[in-house]
Amino acid sequence: MRYDLDGLTFCTQTFGCQMNKHDSERIVGMLESLGCAEVDSPDEADIVIFMTCCVRESADTRLFGHVMSLKDQPLRAASPLRKRIIAIGGCIGQRDGDALTAQMPHVQVVFGTNTIHALPHLLHEAMEGASASDIQEKSSLFSTDLPTHRKSSWAAWLPITVGCDNFCTYCIVPHVRGRERSRALEDVADEARRYVREGVREITLLGQNVNSYGRDLYGSPRFADMLDAIDATGVDRLRFATSHPKDLSPEVIARFGSLRSLMPALHLPVQSGSDRILEMMNRRYTREHYRELIASLRRACPGIALSTDVIVGFPGETEEDFQQTLDLIDEVGYHQVFTFIYSKRAGTPAASFEDEIPREVAQERFDRLLAVVETRALEANLADVGSTVDVLIEGTSKKDARALTAKTPKGQTVHIPLEEGSTNPVPGEIAPVRIEGAKTWYLTGKLLRS
Ligand code: SAH
Ligand code: SF4
Ligand code: F3S
Repeated sequence: MRYDLDGLTFCTQTFGCQMNKHDSERIVGMLESLGCAEVDSPDEADIVIFMTCCVRESADTRLFGHVMSLKDQPLRAASPLRKRIIAIGGCIGQRDGDALTAQMPHVQVVFGTNTIHALPHLLHEAMEGASASDIQEKSSLFSTDLPTHRKSSWAAWLPITVGCDNFCTYCIVPHVRGRERSRALEDVADEARRYVREGVREITLLGQNVNSYGRDLYGSPRFADMLDAIDATGVDRLRFATSHPKDLSPEVIARFGSLRSLMPALHLPVQSGSDRILEMMNRRYTREHYRELIASLRRACPGIALSTDVIVGFPGETEEDFQQTLDLIDEVGYHQVFTFIYSKRAGTPAASFEDEIPREVAQERFDRLLAVVETRALEANLADVGSTVDVLIEGTSKKDARALTAKTPKGQTVHIPLEEGSTNPVPGEIAPVRIEGAKTWYLTGKLLRS
């Protein structure tokens, strides 16, 4: 069916994880293929699409404000519509469905995490004056079957699984993304080969738990096989997220340091350093197992940069439990730690757990954790000063137009001041840089010219 969306402008407002960011790129690709034009600002857009996240309450409440602030803004003068179309997709769309249009009458379209492909149809119906929603529970379609419009020409995200089967007791994701489904290895490899031909230098494989890839597929290909297949495409840099510690296999660990393209960086969420809390979270590993994983990773790849996620203030967390988290974070010495205060999510098992931690206690623990995280992150960055690394140039620095930003193999951001009168590398180029300075969250460096 043809949808009469030709000539309309649209913009996407994306929150949450890389899955949502990737889905947004698919939406842009799909709507552009139907003759719509992407614009940067909601003011200029006939259609505004919110790709939402509900992993924590803070992400959830922000949406309402954003939608409300659009309510009274006039349409662009040349718009063929009488009224701006506001669409809500992503995880809140999936969770709340039609309740959203009831709550916010000026929202005309709601779609879910499995129904991105239905968006043109829903927008078409909204143009006819109906409010429309589609959040089917299941769909055989991966959003990867849709065209895409990548934000950068040199980097690509490649989903290999969608959904999650782990049911950590605090987490809403399995409830809004559904059961884990894997994409055929050859499909992923084909897409990767195409990207490499188009000049992509860095591929990031995506999934809520990439390590359990393939269990639902014929022949059960393993994640390590996927890494080998993507390496064989000739891509320069390969990364992946996210890894669940319980499924990180010795084969995958061995690829660090041996597989040509696999970058020496791993995000391995620990959530807590206390076995008691890990059990209540249903994480299915122990502190000791996690420590052994870290030791094996460092044996396989001594310089590997590690990052993690931590939740503080989980129901029942005692000072002693927290101290164990603090000790573990101090011991491992991460390059980066994403720290979250526990946020109660309706419908998850932990929402009914007793012994909620008062906000002030959680905040105080959070602050103590952050101090350790920052000290260790700065130390990790300082250790690289004086080294020479090949960085992938990303573009002009947002803070300083006379500097470039680039990414090191370990995933650190480097700011590189430009020199007058020399030709400078362009985004997507890989160039050698000498690291000259380190701050907690970035490095500074100097281009080495041959
Ligand atoms: N699948 C990934 C990412 C899940 S969401 C993983 O397993 O790591 C990203 C992070 O958000 C989680 O790692 C967790 O630290 C945090 N998070 C999830 N639910 C939360 C909640 N209810 N409260 C606080 N933080 C939460
Ligand atoms: Fe959520 Fe746990 Fe699945 Fe990650 S592994 S998405 S934290 S349920
Ligand atoms: Fe948020 Fe959904 Fe991702 S809840 S973290 S956008 S899977």
